[in-house]
Amino acid sequence: MLKKILSIAATLIVTNSVMANDDCALVVESNSAMQFNTSNVVIPSSCSEFTVTLKNTGSLPKQAMGHNWVMTTKADSQSVATDGMGAGLENNYIKPNDERVIGATAIIGGGEETTTTFSVKDLDKRGDYMFFCSFPGHMGIMKGTVSFAS
Ligand code: CO
Repeated sequence: MLKKILSIAATLIVTNSVMANDDCALVVESNSAMQFNTSNVVIPSSCSEFTVTLKNTGSLPKQAMGHNWVMTTKADSQSVATDGMGAGLENNYIKPNDERVIGATAIIGGGEETTTTFSVKDLDKRGDYMFFCSFPGHMGIMKGTVSFAS
């Protein structure tokens, strides 16, 4: 029994690392426990664009447990989230035309999936970046770092 559990665990770990970063694209899962399945995103420095596909594996509608994936500099993250709260769900909790946003998906509800592609070629590859969910109240838990690998 233990051997079987260990074997399943090993399979999950391998699957996760394969899913986690495929060249210039990434699949991120979010759930009804207000969690992303990663806390550290690494973008290869050779990428000029990066694509994020966000899945919401929960079952609640976006009004109740919506998630998005937003990337900013670490310095801008809190103010972008605060301004996003005021922008409302109709703006995906992002202030319209917010130039501090490097990349962002739409807010999606349970069972939904969305993709965004954004430019990373002009970013300082040694800078401090973050990703988070801008749904009100989620950022405290739903956040992580973004960095560039040489
Ligand atoms: Co969220």
